[in-house]
Amino acid sequence: MRNTILVGPMGAGKSTIGRLLAKELRLPFKDSDKEIEQRTGTNIPWIFDVEGEQGFRDREHAVLADLCLAGGLVLATGGGAVLREDNRQALRAGGYIVYLCTSVDQQLERTARDRNRPLLQTADPRRVLTELLAIRDPLYRSIADMVIETDERPPRMVVVEILERL
Ligand code: S3P
Repeated sequence: MRNTILVGPMGAGKSTIGRLLAKELRLPFKDSDKEIEQRTGTNIPWIFDVEGEQGFRDREHAVLADLCLAGGLVLATGGGAVLREDNRQALRAGGYIVYLCTSVDQQLERTARDRNRPLLQTADPRRVLTELLAIRDPLYRSIADMVIETDERPPRMVVVEILERL
């Protein structure tokens, strides 16, 4: 059985929606960031601090490659999972891909008080999110089987739409 894989930017709701979707589908839920933290025994800010973004991306690649092979999962990926071509290939081969499309305003609202996202520990998170989305939106779309708008919509409503369209 194929995986159902959620992609999209920080604050898109991938973990919340993934967990609810997994419950509805009666499938295990995995979150690639949580898996990285479990494997390293530490947290993402620590990995960025000590190993830099490149170190984090290498760990992310190893985890995604394993989880994509697993099958039968609902998988929430980190916002930068689509950056590497080899990740995009693994994701494409690994399952049905849902892009949770989310505006910068909504991303900002949902990530405002979060200290766990190193890329947003900056004076101007709006600028960072805008720049990241400009680069990544075409990448998310390039691998997506389904694109879902999540703005101003509660997670349960998004899950119902995914289930209807799966
Ligand atoms: C990142 C997104 C984060 C996490 C890391 C880098 C990114 O995951 O993987 O902080 O590059 O957009 P979420 O999208 O779950 O916040």
